[in-house]
Amino acid sequence: MEKSQWLPYLEKNLSPRRYRHTLGCAKLADELAKIYQVDSDKAHVAALLHDVAKELSVEAMQAEIKKTDITIPEMVRDNPALLHAYASTAMAQSKFGIDDEEILNAILYHTTGREAMSLLEKIIFIADAAEENRTYHPQIKQWRQQAKKDIDNAVLQVLEYNIIRVIQRGFLLDENTVKARNDLVMRNVR
Ligand SMILES: [Fe+2]
Ligand SMILES: [Fe+2]
Repeated sequence: MEKSQWLPYLEKNLSPRRYRHTLGCAKLADELAKIYQVDSDKAHVAALLHDVAKELSVEAMQAEIKKTDITIPEMVRDNPALLHAYASTAMAQSKFGIDDEEILNAILYHTTGREAMSLLEKIIFIADAAEENRTYHPQIKQWRQQAKKDIDNAVLQVLEYNIIRVIQRGFLLDENTVKARNDLVMRNVR
């Protein structure tokens, strides 16, 4: 798809709330990319596409993933909270023609994080968690400000909040989230 068609596509295919979140995510990703001297085109593209599959049914997400050679871990297969990151990565490849590994990994790990995240992955993780339209936690604004000064510390705070929230709700906890958190603690990020 031509890049000029991306925003019309997203506006048409996402709910107004999700579209606003996507634009907020792109705005914060742009800002963080500038601060940390990360390729701003990559950050912008990853932010725009990170949730492109979020509102599909589980079956439609699985169908999008089947078009690519992405494999789905068993615990992710029927879990839309995790599956949408895989499906969005698949759509970035098949529908939007993205073949850059760094962009694809930033989309794939935007929900869970992973061990030894790249700066681009951290930027998309934080942009998703703490963009200006987010309201799920009183600390979001602090996370956003902290990310501009010390992104590792902000990522650690969000990972720890996510781990607690996932357990409190009785959801499956992705091991990548635990590894991402331990990795940052071992590097004395706190
Ligand atoms: Fe997401
Ligand atoms: Fe998101």
